[in-house]
Amino acid sequence: MTTYITTPIYYVNAQPHLGHAYTTIVADAYSRYRRLTGDTVRFQTGTDEHGDKIAEAAAKEDVPPKVYADRISALFRETWPLLDIQPDHFIRTTDAQHVAVVQSILQQVHASGDIYFDEYSGLYCRGCERFLTEKELVDGLCPDHQVPPQEIAEQNYFFRMSRYQERLIRHIHDNPEFITPERYRNEVLSFLSEPLEDLCISRPKSRLTWGIELPFDSGFVTYVWFDALINYLTGIGYPDGVDFERYWSVAEHVIAKDILKPHAIYWPTMLMSMGLPLYRRLHVHGYWNVDDTKMSKSIGNVVRPAQLVEEYGVDTLRYFTLREMSFGLDASFNRDAIIARKNSDLANDIGNLFSRSVAMLQKYTAGLVPSPDSSGDAVLQQAVEQMLPIYREAMDGFQFHRALQAVWEVISQANKYIVTNEPWVLAKDPTRAIRLHTVLYNLAECLRLLTMVLRPIMPGAAAKMARGLGLDPDHELVSSLAGCGRWGLLPVGTELQPTASLFPRVEKEKTGESQPAAGKKKAETKAETTTAANVLTFDQFQNVDLRVAEIIVAEKIKKSEKLLQLTVLVPEQRTIVAGIGEYYTPQQLVGKQVLVVANMKPATLMGIESQGMVLAARTMVDGKERLVLATVSDEIPAGSKVA
Ligand code: MSP
Repeated sequence: MTTYITTPIYYVNAQPHLGHAYTTIVADAYSRYRRLTGDTVRFQTGTDEHGDKIAEAAAKEDVPPKVYADRISALFRETWPLLDIQPDHFIRTTDAQHVAVVQSILQQVHASGDIYFDEYSGLYCRGCERFLTEKELVDGLCPDHQVPPQEIAEQNYFFRMSRYQERLIRHIHDNPEFITPERYRNEVLSFLSEPLEDLCISRPKSRLTWGIELPFDSGFVTYVWFDALINYLTGIGYPDGVDFERYWSVAEHVIAKDILKPHAIYWPTMLMSMGLPLYRRLHVHGYWNVDDTKMSKSIGNVVRPAQLVEEYGVDTLRYFTLREMSFGLDASFNRDAIIARKNSDLANDIGNLFSRSVAMLQKYTAGLVPSPDSSGDAVLQQAVEQMLPIYREAMDGFQFHRALQAVWEVISQANKYIVTNEPWVLAKDPTRAIRLHTVLYNLAECLRLLTMVLRPIMPGAAAKMARGLGLDPDHELVSSLAGCGRWGLLPVGTELQPTASLFPRVEKEKTGESQPAAGKKKAETKAETTTAANVLTFDQFQNVDLRVAEIIVAEKIKKSEKLLQLTVLVPEQRTIVAGIGEYYTPQQLVGKQVLVVANMKPATLMGIESQGMVLAARTMVDGKERLVLATVSDEIPAGSKVA
């Protein structure tokens, strides 16, 4: 099968923000998902570079429009790799091939009688770059831009859109998936229940020169939409490129609700007039607001994707946006929400599951995938087999949040599976080795299938997980849902690899937003100074968060004899720098359960942030100091509180 997925081409009068990033992440995740199912995929994005708004922005900076467009277009192109977005083609409406094809299409449609010249007066919104009908206005203002439209009367060229109205209505009725989610399909049908006006497709050069000249009248340039929408064809080599042949019949467009009408009405009627088949599906999503407020330059709350990547990491940003927004509805971005998702869904749930499982495989089966007992339990197999069809249906239908909910159901079952089966108890009894191996095999195989389904959402984390499982990130066992989406394929004997933490936790303070209030700080200082230094009240002791931590990775720190970097589970994953390098080798530490103070203020040692303190007893041996780690007498779940 083949897939052709596109994003809108973005205007170059503004820099990329969270809204642009979301649409493009969606298209990227979908294209990666289709590749996972075995499709040949073409994914296109780009920039829309003609029109009033761009000419105006360039004039403000006193540069020619093309120079300005080059600069902002490059910003979009350079932003996408930061988000692990990999389009196959980036189209610009100033590309010579695009310009030539737009002109030849105009010529063809004009010759067929679907373009005519007329006098027109109407209400024009510069923000929307189109005429609005009286009905669309709210209190006399454009509902999207909150400005009164301009009354414009001039002679222009028009496209006979009205001629195709009935055919379009029929097409929408006959193809329930043509516009989704359903609310937008209904919105379009309701709009089409009134007579459709023809579409103004030109601007006189006296008013706008920055556009594509009409081939049949050099006094005019095309109206933005007739230029922009055609990018979906020129980008695949219309009229006679092989990619056009291969991809056009399966085209799917992703947009937000702001440009529904041009995509659901102008575009299909243009295609009808050109004698081309219509695109297959139009996927319409809602708007991202910020802290429940519309994102806008004037409010100063525009969120830049590159900054979010820097603060939270690319996988977290991709996961957060796809998990948080119900496709079709509006969603609100705020920093606490992204931190909460990172710490809970990523660090605690999947990060923890992965590091605990790999650490146990390292400890109990020497890092090799063990052989399971075929009559062992099928708890995780059933969980995965239930999830896969839900995941596929949801991904096919752009219901990313539902797909992720189904995946997290498995993650939570796998975490429970560890607690229920207590591999550390099984490991103590040699007669239960087969059971231990079955439990560990099930965990490893579950992680392989989780790696696969997370790949479209978080390609970076999935690659790390694959490597941890001893597989190349592009190995078919983690990259082919079609070939390897069945339980039981992970080869026995596969050698796991040590991996760094998948998702280090973020502390709120780091963002500079959640500093304690001044009053609170003062009160704490007072308590500190009025208590005698060597007497601890019960309340003070209760404030110390002592916990059992399991060491899953231990590494030497370059240029330091004394310090070791420990990755521990408490039960979430943390990094702790401990001054025990003279007394323990890293190998002696992996798998050990030690006591830690879990609520220490983070401190940076040798450039590494230490999020806790390991407890050790201090003694003297032959006149030399020695540290012995404090531990528990029996193995118990990581994170248990020390009372
Ligand atoms: N150039 C036209 C599109 C032509 S397509 C043939 C255009 N450009 S735009 O730069 O304004 O981009 C609009 C698109 O950006 C939306 O449809 C959506 O994909 C994305 N978003 C812009 N702001 C957004 C939000 N606040 N929230 C979600 N997506 C948003 O229109």
